[in-house]
Amino acid sequence: MVKIIGIGGSLKPTSSNRKALVVALERVAALGAETRLLDLHTLSLPFCNGDRDYPDYPDVEQLRYLVAGADGLILASPEYHGSLSGVLKNALDLMSTQELEGKVVGLVSTLGGPANSNALNDMRIILRWVHSWVIPEQIAIGQSWQAFGEDGQLLDPRLSERFDKFAQSLVTHTRKLRGESP
Ligand SMILES: Cc1cc2nc3c(=O)[nH]c(=O)nc-3n(C[C@H](O)[C@H](O)[C@H](O)COP(=O)(O)O)c2cc1C
Repeated sequence: MVKIIGIGGSLKPTSSNRKALVVALERVAALGAETRLLDLHTLSLPFCNGDRDYPDYPDVEQLRYLVAGADGLILASPEYHGSLSGVLKNALDLMSTQELEGKVVGLVSTLGGPANSNALNDMRIILRWVHSWVIPEQIAIGQSWQAFGEDGQLLDPRLSERFDKFAQSLVTHTRKLRGESP
């Protein structure tokens, strides 16, 4: 069974990225993947200063351990000033190819304005740098405040279909890269 971890790049308690991650993880779980949601606001992480060791912040090792043990990742970020959030960038900077190389990654971004690919493209560049394999399917959710119902489910059925295709691709490619039958 493949293991997929979702990491959200927003610290907002009502984060739309968290809602999107929950939906995405439900979809990959329905395809037989083991899933886990990693909330960055539950971890105490320092700003990356270029060191490998952060003895005062054991959660850095926890983050690295969990990601290293996964086969695939879903990263979700708000668009902040035309890019990914600093919170997610910093979490990625605290890791390296040691944890991220060879992971299959799906990308999600929510925005206050119309959907675009700015944060998605920037995440894709970062992940190329650490030798992750990013699937071509990706999801941008514009006007995120009106995308989810009270129950956290997506209101737009076409967007919901995109999540299905996204989940299928992520699980299929993760299995392929692990040498399992897709
Ligand atoms: C600092 C900051 C910068 C933002 N920049 C943009 C932006 O460039 N484009 C945009 O469409 N929305 C922008 N927004 C709105 C967020 O992308 C949007 O509310 C997003 O859905 C928040 O995700 P979250 O609910 O997971 O925190 C910005 C919000 C903040 C707080």
